[in-house]
Amino acid sequence: MASRGGRALASAAVRSLLSRSGLQATSEMRLQTGCAISSSWDYNAYLATGRWSRRWASASVGDEISKFDRVTPVEEALTPPSSWYTSTEIFSLELERIFERRWQAVGYSHQLQKPGDFITGKVGRVRYVVCRDDEGNLRAYHNVCRHHAAAVASGSGCISSFVCPYHGWTYGLDGRLQKATRLGGIRNFTGRESGLVPLWVGTWGPFVLIKHRDFSQKETGSEIGDVEVQKQWLGSAAKTLASSRVDASFLHVGKRGYTINCNWKVFCDNYLDGGYHVPHAHTGLASVLNLKTYNTTLSEKVSIQTCGFARSSEDERYRSTGEISSSGVEDVKKKGKGDRAFYAFVYPNFMINRYGPWMDTNLVLPISATQCQVIINWFLEPSFPHDEALLKTSIDTSGAVQQEDIALCESVQEGLQTPAYESGRYAPKVEYAMHHFHVLLHEDLSM
Ligand code: FES
Ligand SMILES: [Fe+2]
Repeated sequence: MASRGGRALASAAVRSLLSRSGLQATSEMRLQTGCAISSSWDYNAYLATGRWSRRWASASVGDEISKFDRVTPVEEALTPPSSWYTSTEIFSLELERIFERRWQAVGYSHQLQKPGDFITGKVGRVRYVVCRDDEGNLRAYHNVCRHHAAAVASGSGCISSFVCPYHGWTYGLDGRLQKATRLGGIRNFTGRESGLVPLWVGTWGPFVLIKHRDFSQKETGSEIGDVEVQKQWLGSAAKTLASSRVDASFLHVGKRGYTINCNWKVFCDNYLDGGYHVPHAHTGLASVLNLKTYNTTLSEKVSIQTCGFARSSEDERYRSTGEISSSGVEDVKKKGKGDRAFYAFVYPNFMINRYGPWMDTNLVLPISATQCQVIINWFLEPSFPHDEALLKTSIDTSGAVQQEDIALCESVQEGLQTPAYESGRYAPKVEYAMHHFHVLLHEDLSM
């Protein structure tokens, strides 16, 4: 928030700009710059007068959040205003109210099999390390040294303790401070109370999940049972996911990360349009799907889109889209199962895709109001013949589809930042999962 002096300066600057442009501040042009969302342009006024006029925003973050009305049915609803996708204040609120309150699928069980295995990463403001301790329990901590906040671990691997690279404070896999040198003369310091700060950790199927802990609630322990994780993370959709064989048996075969110049929600919106963009933006993919069979079902925090394959498609075309390999189609035909592509979105930022012998996951990480990172991991059924060349081709071509989406997402972000756009509409029969996503966002942000 701007300081009082800063606000006065900003107001003066706005007044000077208005006077230079011949405009005067009116009640519609209130000059509240503190806590205000960036200003927007009045499109309706432009239509009426042919001239752009700045509509100086007086809205607080709360006002901007409430511009989306979650009660209005999808047939009548406006999409959230562009400020949801551009405002740094709303982005900060999302980190706190969404990313620090919801489970985050940051890893996979194959990465954390034996004592000492660890992974690190960052979701929003939370820099984490997850490990398996000497007793075989999963543990997760903020990757922040209690001395001067350096990261105590980086990358992934297998270790017996975390040694901070800055001044050597050493923590056990159980998070306790084991060693801190040159503290002679220190007072009011208790090593027992200076361990790594824990996060909640749990698993479901192949996924390892973490959640920020609210210490004000005096919670104890660190690992949460699978049943509770399932309830909180997936709710009633867990059954559908399990019956689509989303489980820990898959082999991990590839990983890629993409940094995209768009708000994290733009990427999610793109995923949640019920296949609307597929025939226009992914012509290769459209040729192998039977889009008439596209179906979307909603549950509490999960939406599942499914689509049948086009029976007449040549197998080679599957390969060309990268969404499924030609052998994958053979596998589907032989086994007579899994004849639909299956795309599950788990609120707020995780996607699980199943098609033939494949599973891939997308984790959408917020970086700033206008940038995100998408991490994609590919998995294959263990019984499927392991052909390196085919795997590479499939993942490369899947990456090509990804590039088509990235170009669209970055175009949308640019459009959201222009003065022409305030909010849009939903295609009600296909974009209701997107609407559901926005309703959940509104619930979290209004809390
Ligand atoms: S910051 Fe870790 S030992 Fe100093
Ligand atoms: Fe797409």
